[in-house]
Amino acid sequence: MVVLVLGGNSEIGLAAAEQFAEKEKAEITLASRNLKAAENQTYELGRKHGIVARAVAFDAIDFESHREFYDSLHPRPDVIILAFGVLEHQKACEEDFRKARHMLEANLLGAISILEIAAADFEQKGEGAIIGLSSVAGERGRQSSYIYASSKAGLTVYLDGLRHRLYESGVQVITVLPGFVPTKMVAGRTSKFGVTPLQQAGRDIYKAWKKGRHKIYTGSKMRWVMALIRNIPEWMILRMRNL
Ligand SMILES: NC(=O)c1ccc[n+]([C@@H]2O[C@H](COP(=O)([O-])OP(=O)(O)OC[C@H]3O[C@@H](n4cnc5c(N)ncnc54)[C@H](OP(=O)(O)O)[C@@H]3O)[C@@H](O)[C@H]2O)c1
Repeated sequence: MVVLVLGGNSEIGLAAAEQFAEKEKAEITLASRNLKAAENQTYELGRKHGIVARAVAFDAIDFESHREFYDSLHPRPDVIILAFGVLEHQKACEEDFRKARHMLEANLLGAISILEIAAADFEQKGEGAIIGLSSVAGERGRQSSYIYASSKAGLTVYLDGLRHRLYESGVQVITVLPGFVPTKMVAGRTSKFGVTPLQQAGRDIYKAWKKGRHKIYTGSKMRWVMALIRNIPEWMILRMRNL
């Protein structure tokens, strides 16, 4: 089995890839714009788990390169973990549209661009799994993060639709909705709704694939926290200034 991590230096992506390396002895391909860092990670994965791991160059917002990138993959992946993502501060996006646009391009358009190519390949083979890392943020717009949340809401709906399209072809599409996982992406930020340890997030993603799940939250409490947040009436949300 070959697992391709798009955004190969993502800490959550790597934690999930490590589970596949350990439990399935999967080959791992890390696709990243930071090739040097990805090569260091492949060395560690190979050393720890005795598996084949390689690094390849990939930029999620270089849309024109995606066809050539995918066609150049040897071997082709059986499982794809879409792990790249950008989190800009909300205020910075309000003040500078270029930051908002960059986040939307990476989190949503980059995902659609590369996954449409991979989906066609998997559909034609009639097998494979696409695991997309979206976010709980996309489940409810809040003043503190609504531009990032929009990109993730779009990604969640995109993955829903892709799963529907591929359902009868035998291709699995899993939406992962992480809560707060302490990685470099959220360094310096805190969470009001609890923290999911990184290794736990990796295990939850692997288990979702193993059990053939469609959509999961990482961490044991997040499902209930989000059920509550989704059901807070709008008039009440509007008065909660610290959300
Ligand atoms: N951590 C959380 O609390 C949390 C919560 C909800 C959802 N998520 C989502 O989970 C995913 C993984 O996040 P993480 O916590 O593992 O963050 P992370 O360690 O910061 O990983 C994100 C990765 O995305 C890569 N990336 C950004 N722009 C890219 C581009 N144009 N092309 C290729 N790669 C690009 C970065 O690559 P470089 O190494 O090249 O910079 C970075 O390694 C993200 O989609 C994030 O939105 C995270």
